[in-house]
Amino acid sequence: MASFHPPCFHTTIIISCVVFILFFSPALSLQEPVLLLSNETHLDADDSEVRKTELFPEILRDEAVGRLNELGQVSDANGYLERTFLSHASVRAAKLISKWMEDAGLTTWVDSMGNVHGRVGGANPSSKALLIGSHLDTVIDAGKFDGSLGIVSALSALKVLHVNGRLRKLRQPVEVIAFSDEEGVRFQSTFLGSGAIAGILPVSSLHIRDKSDVTVQGALEDKSIEINEDALSHLKYDPESVSAYIEVHIEQGPVLESVGLPLGVVKGIAGQTRLKVTVKGSQGHAGTVPMSMRQDPMPAAAELIVLLESLCRYPENFISQNGQCDASVVDSLKGSLVCTVGEISSWPSASNVIPGQVTFTVDIRAMDDMGRAAIIYELSNRMYQVCDRRSVSCLIEPKHDANAVICDTGLSTQLKSAAYAAVKKMAGEDISDVPVLMSGAGHDAMAMSHLTKVGMLFVRCRGGISHSPEEHVLDDDVWAAGLAILSFLETQM
Ligand code: GLV
Ligand code: MN
Ligand code: MN
Repeated sequence: MASFHPPCFHTTIIISCVVFILFFSPALSLQEPVLLLSNETHLDADDSEVRKTELFPEILRDEAVGRLNELGQVSDANGYLERTFLSHASVRAAKLISKWMEDAGLTTWVDSMGNVHGRVGGANPSSKALLIGSHLDTVIDAGKFDGSLGIVSALSALKVLHVNGRLRKLRQPVEVIAFSDEEGVRFQSTFLGSGAIAGILPVSSLHIRDKSDVTVQGALEDKSIEINEDALSHLKYDPESVSAYIEVHIEQGPVLESVGLPLGVVKGIAGQTRLKVTVKGSQGHAGTVPMSMRQDPMPAAAELIVLLESLCRYPENFISQNGQCDASVVDSLKGSLVCTVGEISSWPSASNVIPGQVTFTVDIRAMDDMGRAAIIYELSNRMYQVCDRRSVSCLIEPKHDANAVICDTGLSTQLKSAAYAAVKKMAGEDISDVPVLMSGAGHDAMAMSHLTKVGMLFVRCRGGISHSPEEHVLDDDVWAAGLAILSFLETQM
């Protein structure tokens, strides 16, 4: 049985909880606007055609949107988008991305975790590199912007520099990385790609198995990629060789749309935990076992899922009762805690059989790491109690854990200026401020924060919808994203 430790008891931990909450509060909401200075010259309407060509719409909008559509067709499924770690479609996507990297003047390679790299040395090839990335894998029935937008917009910006002969003016190397796994759909362990580069992927990850009993190592070997524990350790980048990591990503929430702006800066990313819960009962005949004599794992699982929902909707009713965490932790949880059961299966899964086993996943996110730990502790205790009462056995296994991340303030200021410059150039006039947001979704930047400082830009999406084929980003917002990275890169010359 996995054990979960009571959090929030240690005094220093309580203090850091408070500091963390103060920093993040109010979670998931807009922060105070920060004044942006710009020395851009205002262009009047007569200059609009000149301005437009200087904004490279063919590369940053038209070609980028075409590439997103093309990548959105690279799927393992018929009729919907699915591209999981090292699948056939992922390999095809990697080849396409490699080709686009070359088209942007980058030197490319694929590493032994399936990440695709494209690098340009700039004027000082041996100095620290700026890394820009996002992921090439998708969820099941995905939208075409999650992950792909960050890769495509980085490559469009670099292509603009390439076609204008300016790549060599970059004062440091720039490397784009298309990470092989961020969603964790196939192995339930996210960040296989970025985790390897950041050096946080334990060697045991190579032996995790997917539903078909294929290990991570086996999946790589199937694609002729040799990996062993030694090769994995060599994937880790030397922190001294890297200056920063930046990532552009679809917002996946409604804030930018509600304020009417295409770009926002990310201040921090919520911590996340994934669990696998297995409930075992007594398999039997649906027609013959009296209700009073059943050990049915299905209603037990239903009760556990409803318990999870209550705990996450009303954390104050659970964790303030036992005095584990102070009020600020509870307040933070009230503002940011979200929990999901996204996958459930039963065995043998037939309508006339009482199942022998039910398995479901749990995904828990919160801005406060101690609060998240308190919820998991409380949840597991209460789940085991329910299982005892129902005479079923219950196993709760941790599958993934990533602490919340705070983006680097200096990088965020630079990204904010770049976003501001891009939006102002496109609008031809001053805009109100660029919003600063928290991210409830996980990103490769979380793993990369273990290697270097990280910064992120969010791009507006329609209706805040993501992880759905309904996911949509306006063509002009794709353009704005590319232009913002271009503006950022121009400050690196
Ligand atoms: C990735 O999209 C995640 O937040 O799970
Ligand atoms: Mn995603
Ligand atoms: Mn993503």
